[in-house]
Amino acid sequence: MRAVVHERYGPPDVLRIEEVPRPVPKADEVLVKIHATTVTRTDTGVRAAKPALIRLFFGLRRPKQPILGTELAGEIEAIGAAVTKFAVGDHVFGSTSSFQSGANAEFIALRESAPLAHMPAGMTFEQAAAVTDGAILALMCLEAGHIHTGQKMLIYGASGAIGTAGVQLAKYFGADVTAVCNTKNVELVRSLGADRVIDYTQEDFTKNGQSYDVIFDAVGKHSFKQSKGSLKSGGAYVATDGFRNFFLHLWTSRIGDKKALFPVPPRYTQKNVLFLKEVIEAGKFRAVIDRCYPLEEVVEATRYVETQQKTGNVVLTINGSVTP
Ligand SMILES: NC(=O)c1ccc[n+]([C@@H]2O[C@H](COP(=O)([O-])OP(=O)(O)OC[C@H]3O[C@@H](n4cnc5c(N)ncnc54)[C@H](OP(=O)(O)O)[C@@H]3O)[C@@H](O)[C@H]2O)c1
Repeated sequence: MRAVVHERYGPPDVLRIEEVPRPVPKADEVLVKIHATTVTRTDTGVRAAKPALIRLFFGLRRPKQPILGTELAGEIEAIGAAVTKFAVGDHVFGSTSSFQSGANAEFIALRESAPLAHMPAGMTFEQAAAVTDGAILALMCLEAGHIHTGQKMLIYGASGAIGTAGVQLAKYFGADVTAVCNTKNVELVRSLGADRVIDYTQEDFTKNGQSYDVIFDAVGKHSFKQSKGSLKSGGAYVATDGFRNFFLHLWTSRIGDKKALFPVPPRYTQKNVLFLKEVIEAGKFRAVIDRCYPLEEVVEATRYVETQQKTGNVVLTINGSVTP
């Protein structure tokens, strides 16, 4: 089968499309024929080994798992003898487990307990492939901030993979959402359900006199220090990036009435994917897709993701676009 392989850490052009053996599912595994996968900021971090801590989980000197990619949508090609939840021909979507990769390929073997679920009806493989990474990371942050009905929340960087998911899920949980993004994304972010949208090129939210229960920095471009003045007493800043936030979390858990939260490491579970399926079926969530590239153009797709300017998600299609 063809797969996106990286034998060493480095810039996007360490990626190669190579012929590798097709995996054989074990008794508790399913073999998925992948129709669409993605290039995420998680993938670019793993490929470049940035931050260096990535090496602890993915291989100290070189990648232990040379096939990149975590998100996928496709159909079950074969099942192991002990599999009961899935059958050959089922359309599925999901993610590899935490600290696993291998989805930028024509096939992947996953345990039936992996973060995988049946695809909601009416979705394309491209749409389904882009659901889980940003949304599960957003979900972890919303859970850390104890988001609930009536809470006043600000999402900074509302146009990325995590941000676009965060806006929709925070609305699903009943929060009052103010979203912050660039001019070009204002209408999109409004269409995702934000109660108000601040264009950061026109207005600095820290100077408008408003305060929030939770400020969710979905893109790692704000800070606890910058946000503190806009947090209510007892409020929380939730971060997605920057290891300083880990130490700030320890510090603010003991001192002061405003907390910095940094929910790491990421936990991708089947429960999360089943929850997202439910929210999609209720018509309350969609993955925002910026661009689709064929698998062969993974280097170009990766360069685009590394501009940090994508809106939502970037998808790779395998053997052309297929409508379920
Ligand atoms: N905690 C974890 O386990 C984990 C895992 C994966 C990723 N991450 C981190 O999570 C963050 C978000 O990931 P993502 O995939 O959602 O990002 P992304 O999709 O690459 O974010 C791109 C978006 O960010 C916006 N943006 C760029 N600069 C901005 C700024 N200064 N202010 C506001 N918005 C800005 C861009 O729009 P405009 O330029 O138009 O504003 C663009 O729409 C990244 O820092 C990533 O490293 C964390």
